[in-house]
Amino acid sequence: MLSSASGGAKRPDEQFRSDAQQALAEFRKDGTPDVERAFLSHVFYQCSDFATRAGLAALGERLRTLEQAQGLPGSRLFYLATGPEFFAPIVQGLANDGTICREEGGVWHRVVIEKPFGHDLASAIALDRDLLRYLGADQVYRIDHYLGKETVQNLLAFRFGNAIFEPLFHRQHVDHVQITVAETVGMEGRRGAYYDQAGALRDMVQNHMLQLLALVAMDPPATLKSADISDAKLKVLRNLVPLRGADVARQVVRGQYTAGTIGSQSVRGYRQEDAVGASSTTETFVALRATVESWRWAGVPFFLRTGKRLPRRATEIAVQFKLPPMQLFRTVECVGDVCDLRDAQPGVLVFRIQPDEGIDLTFSVKRPGMQLDLHPVNFAFDYGSSFQTELPEAYERLLLDALRGDATLFMRSGELEAAWEFVTPILAAWQAPSLEIPIYPYSAGDWGPSEADRLIDESFGGWRRP
Ligand code: BG6
Repeated sequence: MLSSASGGAKRPDEQFRSDAQQALAEFRKDGTPDVERAFLSHVFYQCSDFATRAGLAALGERLRTLEQAQGLPGSRLFYLATGPEFFAPIVQGLANDGTICREEGGVWHRVVIEKPFGHDLASAIALDRDLLRYLGADQVYRIDHYLGKETVQNLLAFRFGNAIFEPLFHRQHVDHVQITVAETVGMEGRRGAYYDQAGALRDMVQNHMLQLLALVAMDPPATLKSADISDAKLKVLRNLVPLRGADVARQVVRGQYTAGTIGSQSVRGYRQEDAVGASSTTETFVALRATVESWRWAGVPFFLRTGKRLPRRATEIAVQFKLPPMQLFRTVECVGDVCDLRDAQPGVLVFRIQPDEGIDLTFSVKRPGMQLDLHPVNFAFDYGSSFQTELPEAYERLLLDALRGDATLFMRSGELEAAWEFVTPILAAWQAPSLEIPIYPYSAGDWGPSEADRLIDESFGGWRRP
């Protein structure tokens, strides 16, 4: 455990173990006392300043002493969740001291890098280059915690483990795809200090949302090996049509929350949050229309939307299918005894990523009665009722994979760069004075600014309300 000098008072091993023990009692209810004791006896805490040579040297020294005392070969996993400006200097410092090395023999050294991996395409490439001066490509684990979520991994299983659905993921059948990541949280704690420099496009779209898009749009990978899955995702990301200049004004809407109410709680506006500039123009909401120009997806819009302080926490991917080419039936929907004629309802497949994890398939059936009318109904799969087990935490899975040396659920540099290639021109357009692209206010508790509605016109049925 390594922290900056300013980060908290020094804590001895015992104190850290007792914190870990409490966390285990809270989150790992199935652990046995023996296993827990054995585990904790291997936990140590080192407080050092990672911004100084001496601080990094102290960590190296401590590691060598512990490894010697315990007869360990010296395999090491470093997890960097620091400010992004420290990633390369820390790796450089550890490498200069020989605490981290290119791999030899059976001893491994790996580094997990938290986001943000760069703040635009050029900085992401530069960071990669700096890290690869000291490490081999397979020693760097770029984390995107969405990939560790069960429901996200299930996209691959569902699509390529079921021959009945996979052929439907195609422009012949799909009208459009909507990906929503809605959050109720704002800038709790001092989150604003990081967020005000990032904004929703960098914080959520560049990584989590483009990964979701890649998983729902990718072709079958050659095998389940990390490189094959990454290649298949990369193909989608490379086929994303870049949005530049005036296209950004037309196809991307950004917003920022003002004071409002979520549930029954009144919350302040973004500019009043701690550590946020009083005239900040950082976006807390983005909606955009993307196109994947590939054989499979040409002409199918992908609508992406994410925001803070929206009315509900919900992440979902909705694949909306085309209507039959000819409308033979009437669609009738009844509430109690009152029935209304409505437009034909397209089939929709919804991956509920979180919460209420599961999958819904909506389709039409004949409404019982003397008429041949349609009525929309739903097949639902819920993790809660199908598996009597709690879903593992994303980080639980990812850190275990990093320890095992399995990089399948981590991002390779090509994916990251392709995602930045899509996002960077949007950031540039927002900054271009000549384009004057507005940032629209929305009240906390609303589904973002109403301007987002113009991206997805009536013919698509509008944005969903998950
Ligand atoms: C993080 C973002 O990567 O993901 C946060 O920095 C966001 O702003 C979080 O709140 C959402 O993660 P989850 O797992 O709660 O959907």
